[in-house]
Amino acid sequence: MMKTAVVFQSHYGSTQRYAQWIAEELSCDLWDRKKIKVVDLQPYHTIVCGGGLYAGGVLGIDLLAKHFQELRHKNLILFTCGLADPANPGNTDNIRKGLGKTLTPPMGEAIEIFHLRGAIDYQKLGLVHKAMMAALHHMITKKDAALLTDEDREMLATYGKAIDFTHRAATAPLIHYVRGLEQPG
Ligand SMILES: Cc1cc2nc3c(=O)[nH]c(=O)nc-3n(C[C@H](O)[C@H](O)[C@H](O)COP(=O)(O)O)c2cc1C
Repeated sequence: MMKTAVVFQSHYGSTQRYAQWIAEELSCDLWDRKKIKVVDLQPYHTIVCGGGLYAGGVLGIDLLAKHFQELRHKNLILFTCGLADPANPGNTDNIRKGLGKTLTPPMGEAIEIFHLRGAIDYQKLGLVHKAMMAALHHMITKKDAALLTDEDREMLATYGKAIDFTHRAATAPLIHYVRGLEQPG
């Protein structure tokens, strides 16, 4: 039987929520990136790695990037969890560009990537994250209205509030993909 592990790194819980849903659906093991070493992943054929998006970077991506040589013979899947709506191709292009700074082209080819939409509660943000979001908000308010992107507009509309776009059904394409995989030879 193919052995699958879901590994997540999350600050505020939305990536973890998706990771739990995926692990439940696939009846497989769930690991917190901060509590494992790459050697723990040795017994698995398929690794689903999920990370929250922070300023274009993906939490926990080092697991795949730094350890690609050890992991490349496995089925590798990455999901990002961020506020930007992945239904908007401009947003996914931006995420992919950001990933391109960490993942080399061979890594990008070997890893199947999915994008899921997360959540934010400004009341619960740590000080550094609050300051980063305040700076971003300030920058957007200074922009010419004609130059605002959909993402900017959404940031302005939701700033300071609590919003949650996480939903279990969004994991369906990833689940479908993993179920269609075969044990790597
Ligand atoms: C400081 C900061 C930077 C963020 N940067 C991005 C980003 O670049 N792209 C994005 O889509 N979402 C961004 N977000 C939103 C988070 O990705 C979103 O809240 C996600 O659900 C967090 O996942 P987590 O709860 O698992 O940590 C940012 C949030 C904070 C607080």
